[in-house]
Amino acid sequence: MTKQELCAAAVAAMQKAYAPYSGCLVGAALLTESGKVYTGCNIENASFSTTVCAERTAIFKAVSEGERRFAMIAVAGGKGGVLTGAFPPCGVCRQVMAEFCSADFPILLVTGGGTFEETTLGALLPLAFSKDKVDK
Ligand code: THU
Repeated sequence: MTKQELCAAAVAAMQKAYAPYSGCLVGAALLTESGKVYTGCNIENASFSTTVCAERTAIFKAVSEGERRFAMIAVAGGKGGVLTGAFPPCGVCRQVMAEFCSADFPILLVTGGGTFEETTLGALLPLAFSKDKVDK
């Protein structure tokens, strides 16, 4: 699975978004260390706060299947599903990533036209609140 292929999987997942309220379609593709890909889309709700982002959909799908070791995630999104630049993960999704992934976890932000920007969880969530603070 190349980075380009993971980005393409995120773009494909974006087409499944249920976003009747914001009109923002978002897709994520999460690669496990064992080589599997779990995809997710954003799923909105009339009770807005219950909306779930694409990244968390993908992560929760993977964790609920027994996966906990992740190699990389790609995220694609835009208004009306049009990719006009990076659609970076929200703070809640960054925190969920921090539960399972280290600071060097690569995050690919699809920018459109087959291109992406690469960053890391540590760059997007410095000084993360991590489980060592609450571990017994
Ligand atoms: N959204 C995501 O899916 N991922 C993010 O990290 C940011 C926001 C979704 C939630 C909502 O359906 C729409 O984008 C607008 O906020």
